[in-house]
Amino acid sequence: MRRTIDWADGAIVIVDQVALPGEYRTLTLRTVTELVDAIQRLAVRGAPALGAAGALGVALAARQGGDVRAEADRIAHARPTAVNLAWGVSRALDRLPDGADAVLAEAQAMLDEDEQRNRAASANAAEVVLGACPRRPLRLLSHCNAGHLATVAWGTALGVVWHLHARGLVESVLVDETRPLLQGSRLTAWELEQAGVPYRVQPDGAAAAAMARGLVDCVLAGADRIAANGDVANKIGTYGLAISAAHHGVPFVVVAPTSTVDKSIAAGTDIDIEERAPSELTEFGGARVAPKGAAVFNPAFDVTPAALITAVVTEDGVFRS
Ligand code: MRU
Repeated sequence: MRRTIDWADGAIVIVDQVALPGEYRTLTLRTVTELVDAIQRLAVRGAPALGAAGALGVALAARQGGDVRAEADRIAHARPTAVNLAWGVSRALDRLPDGADAVLAEAQAMLDEDEQRNRAASANAAEVVLGACPRRPLRLLSHCNAGHLATVAWGTALGVVWHLHARGLVESVLVDETRPLLQGSRLTAWELEQAGVPYRVQPDGAAAAAMARGLVDCVLAGADRIAANGDVANKIGTYGLAISAAHHGVPFVVVAPTSTVDKSIAAGTDIDIEERAPSELTEFGGARVAPKGAAVFNPAFDVTPAALITAVVTEDGVFRS
């Protein structure tokens, strides 16, 4: 599978995640304004992919001249919750005194690192899963999309599935559709289909019932920001899954690169949670599904307390707060 985000001919090229699963196409982003728009529309999304977008965005701004620091600030604030975005911007910006080529070289090195780190984190997590879950083959549950599409390549939580599937250890994956924007049914299901991994899409509300029926050996989740105490911000619904998993004695494993850890945040309650447009809930496929003027609560993420998480696993191993 090609990289989700890359640099080509002086521009940023992304796989357009809004078009999937209907169409697999790329978008070429030639300005910071186009990049910020793509980030906010979720054409590029997922914490590690946002880190790459941040770094490449600074490279783009540096080549185009103007007030690079102001442009970098605009990119870093395009979405608030995934720390990787600001991390990617900051790491690339550090090279600005050495010139635009140095910024681009740094951004490209970060893209290369992303796949290596995700492969290592998910390999570590696969061992944690095998240690925590006796049944073979495994029945896993996935929320949102933490696969190739959420990273430059490979994935984090879904990367665990790739490792285990290669060893013949995956029976099937239950895919939470992940309302309201359906990153599960649109993107994760598409990736599993491409990879030939058996899966079933389920409404988010079915996850607790699946656990109660004994259909889930382990829940796998990614992360957008991990606080110093091990609390994890991830796609809305993750917290409820963790509560259900704890209630049913199902291991709940979070997988992320260390770039998602934010030691400056003491606890998850301090994480800035993005609120998205009401239309994401009041409309579905362009049709209105709530009364005109309906008030809406639409947080894009929630925070799962560390106490509910079996292990947070990075490329360095199990995270210790
Ligand atoms: O709003 P999104 O689609 O960017 O949210 C993505 C998630 O919550 C992912 O689970 C997280 O970024 C980890 S991706 C490896």
